[in-house]
Amino acid sequence: MASHSFEYQRINSIEDLAQEEKNILKKTKELCKNAYAPYSNFLVGSIVRLNNGEMIKGVNIENASYPVGICAERAALSAAIANFPKEKINTIAISYLSQKGNVEPLFPCGMCRQFILECETRNEAPIKIILSAQEGEVIIINKASDLLPFGFKGTNL
Ligand code: THU
Repeated sequence: MASHSFEYQRINSIEDLAQEEKNILKKTKELCKNAYAPYSNFLVGSIVRLNNGEMIKGVNIENASYPVGICAERAALSAAIANFPKEKINTIAISYLSQKGNVEPLFPCGMCRQFILECETRNEAPIKIILSAQEGEVIIINKASDLLPFGFKGTNL
């Protein structure tokens, strides 16, 4: 039988992170309040850090025609690529603010995993993913492909 596993980090508190990671995560938590999510009231923030140190922000933006809305991760990555097409993406941090409590880290939705995966392929370098709610545990995934094993890469298109 074949099997698949991957290693990731679980860190008790933001205080235990290295300075650079602490900084991006703190900003990402604050960013959530900028989300436009009047239908779900689930406010998501995402910051992409590039190798040159630039931090590009994205939030979820909902729409009265529900499927038109966009997730924070795809908003941030789209802006990063549009503004810095040549710069490698180093990290993406994701946080959220909800009315049901904010303790469990948010894992990106399936559509965003597919999107981040292709950004990583295009990047030719791993994209680190930092996940946390407003409080509590922080999860660090070393590369996007860990979150979407057997992902569709379009190799045979
Ligand atoms: N959402 C994100 O922004 N990122 C995710 O990874 C999961 C979901 C947004 C979409 C929608 O605006 C709201 O959260 C509730 O699903």
